[in-house]
Amino acid sequence: MKALILSGGKGTRLRPLTYTGAKQLVPVANKPILWYGIEGIVAAGITDIGIVISPETGGEVREKTGDGSRFGANITYILQEEPAGLAHAVKIAQPFLGDSPFVMYLGDNVIQTDLGVFLEDFKARHADALILLRPVPNPSAFGVAEVDRKGRVLRLIEKPKDPPSNLALVGVYVFSAAVHDAIAAIAPSARGELEITDAIQQLIDHERPVEARELSGWWLDTGKKDDLLEANRVILDTTLEASNHGSVDSGSEIVGRVHIGAGTQIRHCTIRGPVTIGENCFLENCYVGPYTSIGDGARLVEADLDSSVVLSGARILRVGHRITDSLIGQRAVLTTTQKKPKALRFLVGDDSQIELS
Ligand code: G1P
Repeated sequence: MKALILSGGKGTRLRPLTYTGAKQLVPVANKPILWYGIEGIVAAGITDIGIVISPETGGEVREKTGDGSRFGANITYILQEEPAGLAHAVKIAQPFLGDSPFVMYLGDNVIQTDLGVFLEDFKARHADALILLRPVPNPSAFGVAEVDRKGRVLRLIEKPKDPPSNLALVGVYVFSAAVHDAIAAIAPSARGELEITDAIQQLIDHERPVEARELSGWWLDTGKKDDLLEANRVILDTTLEASNHGSVDSGSEIVGRVHIGAGTQIRHCTIRGPVTIGENCFLENCYVGPYTSIGDGARLVEADLDSSVVLSGARILRVGHRITDSLIGQRAVLTTTQKKPKALRFLVGDDSQIELS
């Protein structure tokens, strides 16, 4: 069994962060989202992993993630010149995949459930495809499955205007080598992409065994700001362990599960977990509330924030207001010069969003 992780795409829904970086490398609880997928795959016993990258962000993905040794895996990078669809990514990965069955994992998705359970199922049922489904309130934003009363998949449609059910396709699939013939038989969709949903439909139409399972644990698709904040909340809630590798002065109060990285200094702060703070940060006279992740090298002075993700090197200095539900990019600076500012002065990048509430 091999694994193929898709880590291309333009990440348009996470702009402006994705102008300068890959969406799969945006951190959740201070770890790139892509790495959760890799760890899940390795935990299921698969160590031969291909990662499909794009010309725009592939260098960064490769540099940060490496050859796989840090995960106990072997990673092969496969360049997809154009974002021509998920099935196209499988097509160009065929020399890597050979005749092996494989797990396909979208690099901006994370699932809680142990992958091993689905792999066992896939083998036991001699399936050509196993897909995971999850009821969602907005099925039009996903691939959607129509299933019969016994749970058999009748039809799959990509981003339907008029969805036949609320069952979304989760971005984790298991395939046998039969998927390559199915992909060879499909044509690009109306949006000009080779869709994996069409390839699976092709298998269904030819009466090949396609299994569907409903996912019960959480599923995070981190393509947008609110999804990313939700992913941060869920991961801090379920996996964070308290540990202090930095220095905390006696005037500070740390409550609940808080992780503090090496070289970080905390002075006169109240921190209420779950909160993770990276390495070499400096925090003074701050309140940091639950569900916040602060990246390496951040500097916060007289800041008051919760439920937020602050990326590395950002500075939040004497902002006289609570910051909540926010995503602050790398090296961004938020500051005021007066206690009660009379005017706001901005230098804001393309596609940024500022809401004063
Ligand atoms: C892709 C798939 C879609 C699936 C979704 C899950 O869409 O095409 O079928 O439901 O991932 O995250 P994308 O998010 O790339 O638009």
